[in-house]
Amino acid sequence: MECFTPFGPMIARFRLPQDLVDRINAYADSQVAADRSTEFLLPAEFVTQGGEQSLVRRTASLVRRYLARAEGSPAERVDFDVFWIVSQYAGTPSPAHFHSGDVAGVLYLKVPQIDAAEEENSYIAGRQAGYINFIIGGKQRLSKSLISFKPQVGDIYLFPGWLLHVAEPFRGSGERRSMAFNAVVADDGA
Ligand SMILES: [Fe+2]
Repeated sequence: MECFTPFGPMIARFRLPQDLVDRINAYADSQVAADRSTEFLLPAEFVTQGGEQSLVRRTASLVRRYLARAEGSPAERVDFDVFWIVSQYAGTPSPAHFHSGDVAGVLYLKVPQIDAAEEENSYIAGRQAGYINFIIGGKQRLSKSLISFKPQVGDIYLFPGWLLHVAEPFRGSGERRSMAFNAVVADDGA
């Protein structure tokens, strides 16, 4: 049997080197609260420091690889709207949302210990607590509308900014920390 599933958006996952994860965490450690969920923007001087090894250059490289695979050619220009950190503790949801821009990304910097009993359960329709759940369209027979990924430190997901996603609140201990970004891409130098 041959099966084909040619439709729908492409999601990419890369593993970011630990040195970059450590650098972002070192900065974020000075900004997050120890006991409550927070969000804050990464300043431009942080994302651009380091020349070729800067966060912005290394992320742009991944966006180009993603576009080359998904669309056949990397973009000439990859510009970032914003990078931000999301620090969450038990009970905090990330309601279903879209991003602006063409390509969005999320990098996992810290993962919580989710209660074992909860890992065996899931929200209605299969959404997993603490996971990232990508959703498209409505539920249809023979066509998947949801995929869930368990965050792992260093994993970065790239996806179309218009793709709906949600993280349901987890029960457990520790911090769930991620970095997100929005990128605008262009081929014509415009
Ligand atoms: Fe998001």
